[in-house]
Amino acid sequence: MNIEVRFYSRGGNTKKVAEAVAKAANTSAKDCSAPITEPVDLLFLGGSVYGFGLDENTKNYIQSLTPAYVKNVALFGTSAIVKTGNPGMAKLLSEKGIPVLENSFYCRGEFTFMHKGRPNDTDLKKAADFAAAAVKSIQDGGK
Ligand SMILES: Cc1cc2nc3c(=O)[nH]c(=O)nc-3n(C[C@H](O)[C@H](O)[C@H](O)COP(=O)(O)O)c2cc1C
Repeated sequence: MNIEVRFYSRGGNTKKVAEAVAKAANTSAKDCSAPITEPVDLLFLGGSVYGFGLDENTKNYIQSLTPAYVKNVALFGTSAIVKTGNPGMAKLLSEKGIPVLENSFYCRGEFTFMHKGRPNDTDLKKAADFAAAAVKSIQDGGK
């Protein structure tokens, strides 16, 4: 099974989650400058929210994806206040005809005085559990 992890992270919070996800999925995490160049069974895709929306890099990355290569996506994300990152990514992926797993992972990410130390070890353990469950669901042929 071919599994890839991609993320966009300005401050490193989402990168931490990406690395926990990648470790649990026995692969490595790459940022959104790395294109998908061959078919993948499961792409873990992470992003966060800046100024109440997704970063342009995240949106552009999703636009670069094709259902011919990306069979399933599992989303993860961090933000400080609103939780619109994962639903926003899911919408764009659906518009491209790329299936998105029902289960996604979200946790708070440190921002100025808010959520110091997040994602923390507990968040990262939950992210790893999410990743393992997503891999298993694809192995089992479900969603
Ligand atoms: C410029 C900027 C704008 C942000 N705007 C929002 C926002 O509108 N809503 C929100 O929930 N979090 C906002 N945040 C907080 C980030 O979503 C949060 O810190 C996230 O974990 C950052 O992920 P990263 O470290 O992977 O870039 C903002 C952060 C920055 C730096």
